[in-house]
Amino acid sequence: MIGEAVGGIPEKDWLEQAPKFAEAYDGFEKLRADGTVGFVDIANDDDLRDQATDFAESVRGKFDDVVILGIGGSALGPIALRTALRPSAWNTLSSEARGGFPRLHVLDNVDPETITELVYRLDLSRTLIVVTSKSGGTAETMSQYMIADQHVRKAGLPVTDHFVFVTDPAQGALRTLARDLGIKALDIPPNIGGRYSVLTPVGILPAALVGIDVSLLLAGAAQMADRCSTPELERNPAGTFAMLQWLADTRLGKTISVLMPYSDQLRDFAAWFVQLWAESLGKHTPDGGSVGSTPLPALGATDQHSQVQLFMEGPKNKTLTFISVENRVADVSIPRTFGDVKELGYLGGHSLAELIDIEQRATAGALAKRGRPNMTIHVERVDPRHVGGLMMLFELATAYAGQLYGVDAFNQPGVELGKQFAYALLGRPGAEAAKKEWDSLPKADPRWSV
Ligand code: PA5
Repeated sequence: MIGEAVGGIPEKDWLEQAPKFAEAYDGFEKLRADGTVGFVDIANDDDLRDQATDFAESVRGKFDDVVILGIGGSALGPIALRTALRPSAWNTLSSEARGGFPRLHVLDNVDPETITELVYRLDLSRTLIVVTSKSGGTAETMSQYMIADQHVRKAGLPVTDHFVFVTDPAQGALRTLARDLGIKALDIPPNIGGRYSVLTPVGILPAALVGIDVSLLLAGAAQMADRCSTPELERNPAGTFAMLQWLADTRLGKTISVLMPYSDQLRDFAAWFVQLWAESLGKHTPDGGSVGSTPLPALGATDQHSQVQLFMEGPKNKTLTFISVENRVADVSIPRTFGDVKELGYLGGHSLAELIDIEQRATAGALAKRGRPNMTIHVERVDPRHVGGLMMLFELATAYAGQLYGVDAFNQPGVELGKQFAYALLGRPGAEAAKKEWDSLPKADPRWSV
């Protein structure tokens, strides 16, 4: 991505950034040291890990299905971990093929059709429901919970056996309910917000329940945190990503940041990154400006036949970050059949791992040739250690980018007004002012309805 000749960041600009990054690094380290932000140190928190693994062990063999109720940061991490670290058809495998571990469903929306379809498919007597909400009061998650609670009670099942909560240790309605109803509740540390919470019980409880080695996941994250514990830009991988993205956005007008893993296992990882980057950095600055590049997920090689045309020839407003996987658990060789058919013969004798890797390199080269800046993150394999490392890499990069943009990467004030309007329309007490504001909005003009 560095190099003027290919439309990237001029080397001189890059070399000048060392002090700027050191400042950003220090700014973030202060937040970490004073306890404002806790997601880095979580990787070494054995007590929190044990909360999740002990609970998973205590219910081992009791359930065929685990359902996570959560949204945003409470759902995208578990989804990314399931896709990356369990076989793709996990929920359709037999119990034996799953090693006796349960299926894992994540309900991250309030679409009544999805919920109805799932609830009627489950044997509730063999189902564990994990209600995940940091605030313990999110309307979508609480509605799902109330519906699930009604189903469990109707089936005559004890709620204490079929629910576990993951929430703030002290605050919120979910914590109060846990105390009142005697439901087990695991902690999300107060200084870790939703989109940075995948390595707390938010992600590691579901992971442990389905047999993912969470110790390796956390070890990989801790190792990456160590690698990034330097203010020297060129030795800090997360700093390098953050700085490149920030420069590309603010100096070159590359306002869209595409993350394109060449691995089906990392498809939902890209969706997890999108929320992390977007909700953390799309902000007003103190002087009233608006900042933040727009993250866009893509998948290689699939998107070579979809979005890549736009990336190659559309507006020059994007950077691409590829994730390439060096060793894959399985490979398949392409048979040497049809050797005499020009369009097929050259494929024979190669393998699919080779093909997908060559396609990634070819796409990166083609983009560079057209002056489209891109970079590649090389991952040895998609396993718990490396996925933990990748998660920490992008979390740290997002935190550093927050410092570079001059915004608080850990809040989300922009979603508040929409929430207040929804509360007003649903009649929540305390939302009277929002109702007034809503009523004063211009109404839809029937002249413009088609
Ligand atoms: O990253 C965030 O903070 C948000 O996306 C939250 O995860 C999301 O709003 C859900 O919040 P909660 O976990 O409080 O239910």
